[in-house]
Amino acid sequence: MNVILTGFMGTGKSSVGKLLARLLGFRYVDLDCRIVEKEGASINDIFRLKGEPYFRSVETEAARETAGESGLVISTGGGAVLAPENRRIFREQGVIVNLIASAEEICSRLKGCDDRPLLKDDSSLQKVEAMLQAREACYADADIRIDTTGKKVEDVAQEIARKLKETGTFGNRTRRA
Ligand code: S3P
Repeated sequence: MNVILTGFMGTGKSSVGKLLARLLGFRYVDLDCRIVEKEGASINDIFRLKGEPYFRSVETEAARETAGESGLVISTGGGAVLAPENRRIFREQGVIVNLIASAEEICSRLKGCDDRPLLKDDSSLQKVEAMLQAREACYADADIRIDTTGKKVEDVAQEIARKLKETGTFGNRTRRA
């Protein structure tokens, strides 16, 4: 069984994921890092040179690659849950934990970052709010949702570990259809 972290850019998937893996004694896998390694190019360059549809196809390949493994905390790119096929792959692989943050906090966490191609031309609060709204149903398709707004990475990781234990998630999972 694995833990799959989903959520919008800037919700803390990578930093929380690394810590959560340590707490659970799991191995940490970052799907975006795998894509960068496979392609030998940055996410920005993949979007710029090959386009988003190509990136999304490599993202699905990367998601498939962890099938059959267990004991992983997998952090996914913010748009990985958009494709129903990817959500199906994640469901088969483990427990889906969705990280949430307010649009204001996302904007402040991402301020000065230039590695998010989808926010390159417009990283305004309005843009982030619109994307969050458009993606909400895909993020809501999760076993556990945790609001990270105003919380420290350590506290979020502890909260997830506690919830996984409380819900007996690794043996007795309740999922949305
Ligand atoms: C994306 C999020 C990014 C990365 C790519 C697309 C998205 O990952 O996969 O830029 O569609 O939200 P992070 O959520 O790790 O920034």
